[in-house]
Amino acid sequence: MSKRLLVIGSGGREHALTWKLAQSPKVEKIFVAPGNPGTAAIDKAENIDIKVSDFGKLSHLAYAEAIDITVVGPDDPLGDGIIDHFQAKGLKIWGPSQAAARLESSKAFAKDFMARHNIPTAEYKVFTELEPALEYCNEQGYPIVVKASGLALGKGVAIAQDETEAKDFLEKIFIERVFGEAGDQVVIEEFLDGQEISIHALADGTNSLILQTAQDHKPVGEGDTGPNTGGMGTISPLPWLSEEELKAIDETIVKPTIKGMEEEGAPFTGLLYPGLKMTSKGPRVLEFNVRFGDPETQVYMRTLENDLLEIIEASLDDRLNEIELKWSNKAAACIILASGGYPASYHKGKEITGIEDANQLDDVVVFQAGTKLDQDKLLTNGGRVLGVTATADNLDEALAKAYQAAKKINFEDMYLRGDIGFNLTKLTHA
Ligand code: AMP
Ligand code: GLY
Repeated sequence: MSKRLLVIGSGGREHALTWKLAQSPKVEKIFVAPGNPGTAAIDKAENIDIKVSDFGKLSHLAYAEAIDITVVGPDDPLGDGIIDHFQAKGLKIWGPSQAAARLESSKAFAKDFMARHNIPTAEYKVFTELEPALEYCNEQGYPIVVKASGLALGKGVAIAQDETEAKDFLEKIFIERVFGEAGDQVVIEEFLDGQEISIHALADGTNSLILQTAQDHKPVGEGDTGPNTGGMGTISPLPWLSEEELKAIDETIVKPTIKGMEEEGAPFTGLLYPGLKMTSKGPRVLEFNVRFGDPETQVYMRTLENDLLEIIEASLDDRLNEIELKWSNKAAACIILASGGYPASYHKGKEITGIEDANQLDDVVVFQAGTKLDQDKLLTNGGRVLGVTATADNLDEALAKAYQAAKKINFEDMYLRGDIGFNLTKLTHA
């Protein structure tokens, strides 16, 4: 039967999801709200100018267009309860309920949940005053991680190397109040050493299916320096992580999380994305996300061989146990082309050229994120502008192809990290 879908979001992740869903022979039409010029260019897809926060208009569109299934990309609408809103109206939508989305929307909930279910994470303690917080840092030793508990636009985390740095950051939070109420509580956390990786798993409330491994590169600068971004590039799968290690992550982190959420009356349906550190003592959860990663999705959609719609339907019907994930035996890489200055201030409206040339290279697909069309010109319209993906028999070749494709593309002040995949071996702290 021909299905009509609605995809919510406008980033590279949503371009990749829409691109993949459009390949399903079962899909007749995909609306994307609000989408981007990349999604608009897909034959079966049509952009609809509705904000991801406007649940009323979105659910109205789902009725009016007889949408069979809605797929949500970003975290904000999930944290704000879009799943519950659609379900209350009898509309089929894929993703976690607001209660299940607390794994991402509340760090305090996630930390306490992990403690309740013995899920390995950094040791931590919460403080509301400077003196005892600093005393605890000194007791535990350095380096140590100091986090404002609330949402702080990614700037609320400091890795303190000594007492002076801990004191400086605690004074910013408690005395200068630079994060306002987000700094009413401070989480002091054990510093976790090791490589950071992205785990993704599909869940239907009871069953889960772990995806191949992937790795993002969050800091803006080469060698993982400078401020964190949404992600500057991804690789998948990770050549240094064994099947046994992935299985151990599934058994000690993914499955206990899905089981724990079910036991607590907030069963998790959708995509669970734990960010992990691979420490010498084993994998530890840094944070949970309750949606696909961006730009992890861009590499996953290049290597996943299943029909994505069939997977989503199985997840919605509580029969993920019937699905077997199939991966091409290729490696994939994604290089983000960003506006110079990102993640701080940057210019918009610069003309982009060369995407078609890049797309013509073998095994290359360019996904769009912060772009807009002005007449027939494609212009930059955000920090992360494009994600250039390539697949090949091994990661080195995939990276080489992606960089070669990136060279075909141009816009003023274009910035990319030249070292995506630089950490291809396990030992980074010899
Ligand atoms: P968060 O906002 O909690 O995800 O933290 C932002 C980034 O800080 C993470 O992506 C890590 O790179 C780093 N980070 C956070 N917590 C820790 C930790 N306990 N040990 C080491 N690095 C951390
Ligand atoms: N890849 C980082 C994120 O999606 O949060």
